[in-house]
Amino acid sequence: MKIVTIIGARPQFIKAAPVSALIRQKYRNRIREILVHTGQHYDRNMSDIFFRQMRIPRPQYHLRIGGGSHGAMTGRMMEEIEMVLQKEKPDWVLVYGDTNSTLAGALAAVKLHIPVAHVEAGLRSFNMKMPEEINRILTDHVSQLLFCPTHTAVENLKKEGITRGVVLSGDVMLDAARFYRPIARNISLDRWGLKEKAYVFCTIHRQENTDDLGNLREILKALVEISRQTVVVLAAHPRTRKAIEKVPGIKNLLQSNKAKFSSKKSGGKKKETIKTGFLVVDPLGYLEAQRLVMGAKVVLTDSGGLQKEAFFHRTPCITLRNETEWVETVVSGRNLLAGANHTEITKLYALIQVLKKQSSFSKNLKKLDASNNVLKTLNKRKR
Ligand code: UD1
Repeated sequence: MKIVTIIGARPQFIKAAPVSALIRQKYRNRIREILVHTGQHYDRNMSDIFFRQMRIPRPQYHLRIGGGSHGAMTGRMMEEIEMVLQKEKPDWVLVYGDTNSTLAGALAAVKLHIPVAHVEAGLRSFNMKMPEEINRILTDHVSQLLFCPTHTAVENLKKEGITRGVVLSGDVMLDAARFYRPIARNISLDRWGLKEKAYVFCTIHRQENTDDLGNLREILKALVEISRQTVVVLAAHPRTRKAIEKVPGIKNLLQSNKAKFSSKKSGGKKKETIKTGFLVVDPLGYLEAQRLVMGAKVVLTDSGGLQKEAFFHRTPCITLRNETEWVETVVSGRNLLAGANHTEITKLYALIQVLKKQSSFSKNLKKLDASNNVLKTLNKRKR
């Protein structure tokens, strides 16, 4: 069987990595995978590093379509993906998550009557202002196989009348987190001057938080306040970096409590450490991000993936949005929704540290061997 896998943005590299690795190991005589990289993410540290660290094979097609408006980007991707599909004539097209690359891949395939398999189907934030929500709803409605990470996702699909082809597969991101955890653990926090459980790790990239400067200012105000008690590490997405650079008020706010390194001699070697302050770093590779999540006392993020990774590594999380698709993490008491309000963020930051640790890892998240479930199902469903 031949499948074409469409990837293009950072979270898709992470989701595709365990599935693609399993194809090359267990399914190599039965499934042939052609990888298409749309180019939505193109920087070295937004794309290449994931291929290298997660050993994803070099894509057979690189479409180099990054940037532009949502419509323009999606349209250009569809046009190019259609040409690839006409040439390759796959049995299935495999898409992941909820980005513009996901939607472009799904639409191009369905219009050529090629069945679509969607990994991470059924997630809903019920906020149609999010481009990702539009992408996931449309992709689910044209998919023949829908691989759901949670029971909630299966239920969401049922409410929209989708029951055929729905498989509770488990979460491929959990497969990745489990596999790479021992490798990530070997990375020393000294690299950033940090100490175990003595910093918070933060990412901001959602359009609602970066393009709305009011929201961005509120979040950063809270982070600067928190940085007076502990170190705040912000891994800045290119879009966030641009927003910070553009607005002098915001840049000055961050400069107001920049982390200061102090050096100490330890075992004959000079060691640089920081105790408080704000540290902005470039986007991180998968392993470095996992390491910083594992070592953080709290994660603050507006990313869907990072909320879950915090949960997998049992690090409490504050989500900088008003809703989440990963309701299980909130029900567990390990993820609190703060939105982009600075008072709420600082209040929840104080609260989350006194909340008792509950290890209610959802049962349905824990044991399912997601990548294998995806491939086993696909392999049985020859066209
Ligand atoms: C996209 C996904 C989002 C996902 C996120 C992960 C959509 C609608 N959104 O959002 O679901 O969580 O990726 O990061 O598909 N840029 C660079 N270098 C890069 C990549 C992007 O400079 O390597 C710039 C782009 O030119 C653009 C901005 O960053 O100006 C945003 O990139 P874009 O791909 O539009 O969306 P993301 O915010 O990354």
